[in-house]
Amino acid sequence: MNRIHYGGDYNPEQWSPEVWAEDMKLMTEAGVSLVSVGIFSWATVEPTPGAYDFGWFDQVMDNLAANGIGASLATMTASPPPWLSVKHPEILPERADGTRLWPGSRQHYCPSSPIYREYAGRLVEQVAQRYADHPALTIWHIGNEYGCHTRQCFCDVSAEDFRRWLRDRYGDITTLNEAWSTTFWSQRYSDWSEVFPPRTTPTFGNPAQKLDFARFSDDAILQCYLVERDIIRKHTPRVPVTTNFIGLVHKPIDSFKWAAEQDIVSLDSYPDPYDPHAHVEAAFGYDLVRSAKGGRPWLLMEQAPSAVNWRPRNAPKAPGVMRLWSWQAVAQGADGVLFFQWRQAQGGAEKFHSAMVPHGGPDTRTHREIQALGRELAAAAELSDSLVRAEVAILHDWDNWRAVEGDAHPGVTELLPAHRAHFDPLFDAHVTVDVVHPATDLSAYKMIVVPNLYLLSRDVAAALTRYVADGGTLVVSFFTGIVDEQERVYLGGYPGPLREVLGLRIDEFWPLPVGNSIGVDGGKGTIWSEWIETEGAETIATFTDGELAGRPAITRHQYGEGVAWYLGTRPDPALMRTLLDRVRTEAGVEPVLPGLPDGVQAVVRHGGEADYLFLLNHSGSAVTIPLPSPAVDLLGSSGSPVTSVDLAARGVAVLRH
Ligand code: GLA
Repeated sequence: MNRIHYGGDYNPEQWSPEVWAEDMKLMTEAGVSLVSVGIFSWATVEPTPGAYDFGWFDQVMDNLAANGIGASLATMTASPPPWLSVKHPEILPERADGTRLWPGSRQHYCPSSPIYREYAGRLVEQVAQRYADHPALTIWHIGNEYGCHTRQCFCDVSAEDFRRWLRDRYGDITTLNEAWSTTFWSQRYSDWSEVFPPRTTPTFGNPAQKLDFARFSDDAILQCYLVERDIIRKHTPRVPVTTNFIGLVHKPIDSFKWAAEQDIVSLDSYPDPYDPHAHVEAAFGYDLVRSAKGGRPWLLMEQAPSAVNWRPRNAPKAPGVMRLWSWQAVAQGADGVLFFQWRQAQGGAEKFHSAMVPHGGPDTRTHREIQALGRELAAAAELSDSLVRAEVAILHDWDNWRAVEGDAHPGVTELLPAHRAHFDPLFDAHVTVDVVHPATDLSAYKMIVVPNLYLLSRDVAAALTRYVADGGTLVVSFFTGIVDEQERVYLGGYPGPLREVLGLRIDEFWPLPVGNSIGVDGGKGTIWSEWIETEGAETIATFTDGELAGRPAITRHQYGEGVAWYLGTRPDPALMRTLLDRVRTEAGVEPVLPGLPDGVQAVVRHGGEADYLFLLNHSGSAVTIPLPSPAVDLLGSSGSPVTSVDLAARGVAVLRH
């Protein structure tokens, strides 16, 4: 990219050409280099079927080119025009209970609809042909936040597509019956026509059917993306394509699978300014999106300049927060900082969503901060293409996420809180983390953390076992390794395929009543407890009260050249921090800098010629941080090397070493 891009969603169709002229002037002054255009333009460029009106859009593209601003050019298919659903009401999606979703907002299409895909494809063909050689075209922005609102469709068209998907996966109905354990509750199918999406049922539906429907729905949406991507590729094989993931992680869309189909990944991120840990939540999402593309730089495609409009109470970003959180994304590997949206809408459902140019115009606090950040980022071009490296990986798998949160389990196990329980203490200890799919090559990591990987394939279990045997450090939390990819339990004692490496067997699950905790040596356990029988593992901590008092709670097993830890409960945050500090110290994992104050985030991006240390003060107080060696602060005024950095509350420094 050769620079850190700056910009946002630009919706000129909502404004007159006089406003466009002011937009160009203000964008230039703010150092804007990339804007997403056309996302919601379908009804304006194709006002009636097949009658295209691109004249106004040509002007917009020409304006951008004339001002040296790139277009992240949308395929314009995110919100079908009203005429399409009048002409073809069968494109409208249906919920599990049969409710049809009507036009009047956006994303009102059934992902499996061949009619939607056909009309969308025709439009994309027009857009791609028309702008293939336009000088403003910088990157293709396919669709918009796929799966944001319409995540699954249960209509008859989807049902037929689901059957096709199942036939591809299982071949014959007997194999499907086995995979779905249909002898249970008399669910055996004798013909494909009897198979439906998991529509609303009297009680718990078949878990394997639900999991397959989640996989299918993701694939159906991905197919919409691929149809458009392939048209684009035909016309512009060298222009990169992306689509913006919904922040920070979104259960319906498997970012790992989707990332493989994109040239650069991008993310929309809306941490809540009222949440004191919002930056930690964001950090987890940024580590994941970066890892999804093997550590390559990514784009922050959308964030709010200040408040959003879709929470019950929408906090503005206090002075300095927008800058701090923007630099956080860059620190964690982003090569672009973009916003939703450029100019705050006068009407429509998002009129109270903040913008780079607020209702009050350019003479506003938000716009002044936007201008200042644009100047800073423009001067930091050398950061682009530098890479973040981590020694620790947390394993995340969309299949597992969908399965572990299923119905009728021993207790409720929500995956994102489980991730955060492990991620936050590492973040607080200033340790850099990747968040990767379990089937990734893990050999280069010093430490692997596995929170509640309930669904685990035999292959991944074998790879984790080898990883430890070869000298790795593994931390596994409860309710991991319980079922295979079809939600069938591994028999003979939990966690079947990990028993050997962990050196234990779990006899029974003892989830804790809501809000309760249980005593554990050194602190408390939350959420869960279990009856563990060690088979070679050493007990590090025992439960100290209740029926399990005196039994193992946390174990450690030397296996081959490595070590495998097991947590039979979720330790309280202080105990988790103590435990993970011990595990990582033994594994040789160091913080980015020793002795950093609480609330200061530190990340290094490695460039070809220099390393860049980012220091971000998320705390409310000023701090002084001594540096290991003299370095130039790219954001400082002096230009000469410094040996320590004074960071105001919400302050940022980027140090070139
Ligand atoms: C999403 C969408 C945008 C806008 C923002 C508002 O990210 O992609 O079009 O609706 O939300 O926060």
